[in-house]
Amino acid sequence: MARIGLFFGTNTGNTRKIAKQIKKRFDDDTVADPLNVNRVTAEDFAAYDYLILGTPTLGEGQLPGLSSDTEAESWEEFLPKIEDVDFSGKTIALFGLGDQVSYANEFVDALIFLYDFFSDRGANIVGAWPTDGYDFTTSQAVVDDKFVGLALDLDNQADQTEARLNAWLKLIAPDFDLPL
Ligand SMILES: Cc1cc2nc3c(=O)[nH]c(=O)nc-3n(C[C@H](O)[C@H](O)[C@H](O)COP(=O)(O)O)c2cc1C
Repeated sequence: MARIGLFFGTNTGNTRKIAKQIKKRFDDDTVADPLNVNRVTAEDFAAYDYLILGTPTLGEGQLPGLSSDTEAESWEEFLPKIEDVDFSGKTIALFGLGDQVSYANEFVDALIFLYDFFSDRGANIVGAWPTDGYDFTTSQAVVDDKFVGLALDLDNQADQTEARLNAWLKLIAPDFDLPL
């Protein structure tokens, strides 16, 4: 089993695409192939001490799932399956996709739901990301002046994705013992 689990939710595939870009940078002993959370069991997910988790924000600042008209089940339906898992001692980094132009008042809001869920269960969440270079009005995902994870906007700033991803992976590398 790889050391680091890589899981995502998605509606139209952008978050899967980013997860694949992350995986491409590491061998199979380091990072597992990315899996959609609608295809994993609680046991498979909880088996990892290191997790990288991705989500888009959908609906009105929501996690993907049936209530935000996501086509299949997603984080909304998966989180209840792991609500009794103790994540203390585990290290988690989050990345979120959003659209800062069309959803300037709820940019990457869904990150905060993952952040709250896993910090409430003891996880050490790393990888807070500066808000410089984005143009949005409000985001629930900003805590102490930083996003609680990497914010990506493929709708408006696709050309910045690779540089942001590289810098963020370097940022979390010490916590995840990544060979970067
Ligand atoms: C119906 C709908 C609602 C959305 N709501 C939000 C939102 O509240 N906040 C945000 O930052 N982005 C929002 N977005 C933008 C998506 O998060 C963005 O397009 C993302 O790249 C989609 O990722 P996916 O392809 O993995 O589903 C919304 C997009 C759609 C289609």
